[in-house]
Amino acid sequence: MPKHTIVTMPGDGIGRLVMNEAIRVMEAAGFDFQCIEGNIGWEFWCKEGNPLPDRTIQLLEKHKTGLFGAITSKPKDEAATELSPCLRDKGYIYVSPIVRMRQHFNLDICIRPCRTYQGNPLNFIRRGRGGEVEEPLVDVVIFRQNTEGLYCGVEWSHPDGIVYDALKSHPNFIKNFSNVPREEIAVSTRIFTRQATERILRAAFGYAVKHNYKSVTVCEKPNVIRETSGMMYKLAKDIQKEFAGIELWNTNIDAQMMWLTKNPEDYGVIVAGNMFGDIVSDGFAGLIGGLGFACSANIGKEVAVFEPTHGSAPKYAGYSESIVNPIAMIGSACMMLEYLNENELSIKIRHAIAEVIREGKVRTYDMMKMKGSEDAVKNGAASTRQMADAIINKIL
Ligand code: NAI
Ligand code: MG
Repeated sequence: MPKHTIVTMPGDGIGRLVMNEAIRVMEAAGFDFQCIEGNIGWEFWCKEGNPLPDRTIQLLEKHKTGLFGAITSKPKDEAATELSPCLRDKGYIYVSPIVRMRQHFNLDICIRPCRTYQGNPLNFIRRGRGGEVEEPLVDVVIFRQNTEGLYCGVEWSHPDGIVYDALKSHPNFIKNFSNVPREEIAVSTRIFTRQATERILRAAFGYAVKHNYKSVTVCEKPNVIRETSGMMYKLAKDIQKEFAGIELWNTNIDAQMMWLTKNPEDYGVIVAGNMFGDIVSDGFAGLIGGLGFACSANIGKEVAVFEPTHGSAPKYAGYSESIVNPIAMIGSACMMLEYLNENELSIKIRHAIAEVIREGKVRTYDMMKMKGSEDAVKNGAASTRQMADAIINKIL
């Protein structure tokens, strides 16, 4: 019996292509595991009216650890037209299976590390004081609250009845919106709870201590969004007292994005609510190579799911030889290995990735700064499989 059972959810498009490579790399590193495949994605929406079938939820309930590739999502109306004819007009409504999975299992802690690999031609460079080229070493880990905030889904168009009454109970609403016709109003709420906010903050501080970061930066906007951002910053000040030696910094999301390229090397752990965490993590990912390098973990109390942040990139999914970069997926697998206390295996794989990038002989099309096309491999880019092979060769 293998030591670990992983629910692999390849999903759509390039999700399956990069998943296959991550599995090969983990096997090469000596990970003692078996995979059970869970169905997720567009195919199951079209065939069954549910992109996250109950059987997949049950697999995750049983085995607790998931590795997810990527899915294709489409707007509600388009989704309805692609349903299998026998399911149409029966009340099926498309909901993103990732958002549902995060909420169903309360995967409230999202971790997105953005670390420079030396030798990556996509690394951010800037001009120094004397005009010289500087390549700052970015080593930032973003902790994003994953279930609440502006993505909590509590929204109304044309608010009516008690919802409208509640809005009217606020003096700022009366002042600014009471003359606007109700049918012209849309409202998305930004709900933070104390419990979830404390959990993401403690996770961030705990990580900073464990991994020797000197600071935790709360990246919100407490001067304007006083109730929710304000609550996070206030709780951060309290919680920081439990973590002697870790500094608490406070930046506003807009200023943080402006400073992104000025001093990214100064930041360590960053913590934010759902949307600002999404934004700031994409910003930092851009400094270290973009979607081909951006990995993530979604961690709840019972279940954890690991995934690259990129989507299914359908335009590249049908190539006879896949060209996409598998490193984001393989990095996500490394995060899973660390979660499972298989640190040595993760270090082995990370070193192998670093070595391949440092050598610079094997580079996928994105690293070559090519336009993605079927000809990329002919023009000198490594295929998805060649990149994984190069990593495997460094492990062995
Ligand atoms: P995408 O992330 O799939 O692709 C955007 C572009 O990024 C690609 O065209 C490609 O140039 C590049 N890219 C992505 N992954 C790459 C990799 N591994 N290596 C090299 N280059 C890579 O986002 P897009 O095109 O906006 O969405 C495509 C589909 O994916 C949509 O249906 C969308 O809803 C879905 N999506 C799913 C996500 C998920 O499963 N977590 C996240 C984002 C989008
Ligand atoms: Mg995003």
